[in-house]
Amino acid sequence: MKTTVSKRMTFCAGHRLYNPEWSEEKNQSVFGPCSNPNGHGHNYVLEVQVTGPVDAATGMIINLKSMKQVIQQEIIDKLDHQNLNSDVDFLKGVIPTTENLAAVIWEILDSKFGGEMLSRIILWESENNHVEICR
Ligand code: NI
Repeated sequence: MKTTVSKRMTFCAGHRLYNPEWSEEKNQSVFGPCSNPNGHGHNYVLEVQVTGPVDAATGMIINLKSMKQVIQQEIIDKLDHQNLNSDVDFLKGVIPTTENLAAVIWEILDSKFGGEMLSRIILWESENNHVEICR
């Protein structure tokens, strides 16, 4: 038996999909309107899942309050209402696609939770598009 707890949190951020090594024309042809020079925004939904043994004394895998605190401090506070191309230290030089953003979020949360507890993250960029990373 495997037990997983899941925490869902949201943030809003702006971005532009743009590869600086390409011409404007190539960026437009690959990324379409997502590459418009002045950017656009998304209401992101991040779901974080932790899997592990249920502690006999607490009845929990992880305290959801401390799980929320970690996600809030390490991810949400740094991304919410920011421009992902320019305002976030850990995204410098990263094309802020949902795939790349999810990979960076995974690395940060994996180092914070440790012990291979982090089992999956799902990052929704819109109602219809999401990226999932599993251990
Ligand atoms: Ni976008």
